[in-house]
This record gives sequence, structure tokens and C-alpha cells, in this order.
Amino acid sequence: MEKFLQIQKELVLVEKLTGKKINLAVFISGRGSNLNSLIKYSKYKNSRINIKLVISNKSDAKGLKYAKKSKINFFIINYKDNIDPEKKIIKNLNNYKIDLICLAGFMKILSKSFINNFKKPILNIHPSLLPKYKGLNTHERVIKNNDKFSGSTVHLVTAKLDSGCIILQKKLKILKSDNAKTLEKKILKLEHKLYPEAISKFLSNL
Ligand code: GRF
Repeated sequence: MEKFLQIQKELVLVEKLTGKKINLAVFISGRGSNLNSLIKYSKYKNSRINIKLVISNKSDAKGLKYAKKSKINFFIINYKDNIDPEKKIIKNLNNYKIDLICLAGFMKILSKSFINNFKKPILNIHPSLLPKYKGLNTHERVIKNNDKFSGSTVHLVTAKLDSGCIILQKKLKILKSDNAKTLEKKILKLEHKLYPEAISKFLSNL
């Protein structure tokens, strides 16, 4: 928690000094519905974020259409064709003076050296009530275990998968009639409110 508060303080201070909005990069791999919700949020008058860059490891990621529609620069990084893809990502982040990264369905794990070298906060949204159900196939596992509740979590990214400090969580009740598909749909809807709220909380003055 202390580290979270320290990072938060530093970021808020930078913003105050420059009087500018926070430059955000969103990382995606597919559908991009959370990217879409963040773009909408960035357009609100009181929003403190400016989405400068979208990074995708897939050239055919459906979510890229949201970046194109809003004329946000995007960068596609093919992990197979590049010896050091993260080096190229860092170069882009520096070019766009990115202050904060939001992972939104990005299916690559960032290396420890990337996380340590970037020096700015990285957030992720995970479709479970962390610390429960880290990793993939969360909805299937939740349904299989007959859980009563599920939800989503926005957390700081650390070198340990899905284990960084929790910023905000939203939960919902699982109905008897729910299956992994219906749960995914409901949680996705929840996430579209959760991510902007979590960012706003993260950036809020102490
Ligand atoms: C979301 O459920 C998010 O929690 C998880 O991946 C999914 C991405 O969905 N990390 P979308 O691409 O934003 O629609």
C-alpha cells in the first residue's frame, strides 16, 4: 500500500507541475471494449486522462477500430518478428511521454525488466475478485466452483502475475442460471464503469 501511495503522489505532483493531463497508453490484444470505455471517459470534461497511444500485439485486434475512430495513434508490435519487442514498446512510450499504462485485455506478460525500467505506474483490469482466480479462464473456474459472487479488479502491475496492490473492485451476484458466457458478459459491463472509476481514484489528490 505504501508503494501505491508513493507512486500516486509522484504522479499527481508531475501533473500539478506541468498543468497537463496524464498521458495514457492502453495495451490491447483483441476486442477492446475496455479501451472504448476509457476513450469515452477521456472525453469527459473533468477527465484527467489523455489517451496518447494504443499498443496492440495483434495487427487484427478488433479494438484498434476505436483508436482509429478517435484518431488516437496506435502501434502494433509483433512479438514473433522482433528479437526485443519490449525495447520497441519502451521507445514508443518515451516518444509519447506516457505517464501511465493501462492494460486492457493485453495477452502478453510484461517482463520484470520492463516493469522495473518503465518507472511509471502500470494498471491492469482482471475479470475476477482478486486475489481469487489469478490467470486465465476465470469465469469457467468461478462457475465450476459454484461461487456466489464474482466481479472485476483494477490493480497495479508488479512482476508477480495479478498480484499487485488492488485499486478498486466491483462485484456482482451470480445467478443459478449463469454460465461462463453470461457471467463474462455481465462482468464486462461492470468493467466499463470500473476502469474509469479506478483511474480516477488512482489519480485523485491525497
Ligand atoms: C476483460 O474482461 C479484462 O478484464 C481482461 O480481458 C478482457 C478484455 O476485454 N483482462 P476487452 O478486450 O476490453 O473487451
